[in-house]
Amino acid sequence: MSDTQQSIQWFPGHMAKTRRKIKEILPLIDAVAEVVDARVPLSSRNPEIAELIEGKPHIILLNKSDMADKSVTEEWIKHYKSQGVFAIAIDCKSGKGLSVFKDTVKTALADKLEAYAKKGMVGKPLRVMVVGIPNVGKSSFINRIAGKTRAKVENRPGVTRGNQWFTIDKQLELLDTPGVLWPKFEDVTVGEHLAFTGAVKDRILDTELLAMRLLEILSENYRDLLENRYGKLDFECDSYDLLSQIGKKRGMVIRGGDTDTERAANMLLEEYRNCKIGLISLERV
Ligand code: G4P
Repeated sequence: MSDTQQSIQWFPGHMAKTRRKIKEILPLIDAVAEVVDARVPLSSRNPEIAELIEGKPHIILLNKSDMADKSVTEEWIKHYKSQGVFAIAIDCKSGKGLSVFKDTVKTALADKLEAYAKKGMVGKPLRVMVVGIPNVGKSSFINRIAGKTRAKVENRPGVTRGNQWFTIDKQLELLDTPGVLWPKFEDVTVGEHLAFTGAVKDRILDTELLAMRLLEILSENYRDLLENRYGKLDFECDSYDLLSQIGKKRGMVIRGGDTDTERAANMLLEEYRNCKIGLISLERV
């Protein structure tokens, strides 16, 4: 998605429309599956979701777990559980973790299934709305779960045209987010964290500043991984000097012996995004 598209769609009217569509569809769904990026589970959420879904059973899908720190992801799962929210780690690139999704839906909706059984309504499919901000992997998730057999059912009675329903099997139907849900852009940390992961284009932010901020987080929790990648580093300095050290180690020196910190910044961000530094989570419980 281009920056222009982002800025065009980032318009209060669009959010109001999405909010309206969700409210409208809420009576038709049984639960909400929220896809977030396991590396930044806080920043990759829409701040209004919890309120918008009005207490519907809520399942958090910690996607891209292949790129996150496994122990941190496990901490997040425990944390959500303690709040009564179901959470599972998934990886839509390989499909890992997805096999437990259907059972998690059934567990989250155990009361409803029991009520259906009492009324003899066995076989009524469970309907789950999949939500998430752009780029967290919603489409990858739906494609993975629906597989080749997916049948798209659109325009159900009483529902705004254009809603995308996917019949997964006799027991489960998924609905794609009706509209676009945005992250909390006005929060600087959210913008930075989404830029680290590549969900927001870093062209709109200063690359060196961004790399320095990333180094602050990495030197707090992942010094060993930084040194494995770039060699011995002196952490008793500010993040600009640390970036300089890394650039120098990679031979990024310009005339006069100074480090080309802009090149070093681009390299660091790219290597973080490609998991070359390691499996790293930027937000902890
Ligand atoms: P969206 O619908 O929420 O906007 O997200 P989408 O599925 O389009 O996924 C956004 C990007 O994240 C895609 O990469 C996708 O391949 C990648 N992705 C989704 N899930 C996972 C995951 O669990 N692990 C990893 N490593 N990547 C994941 P892209 O570069 O935009 O496209 P492409 O590489 O698929 O061509």
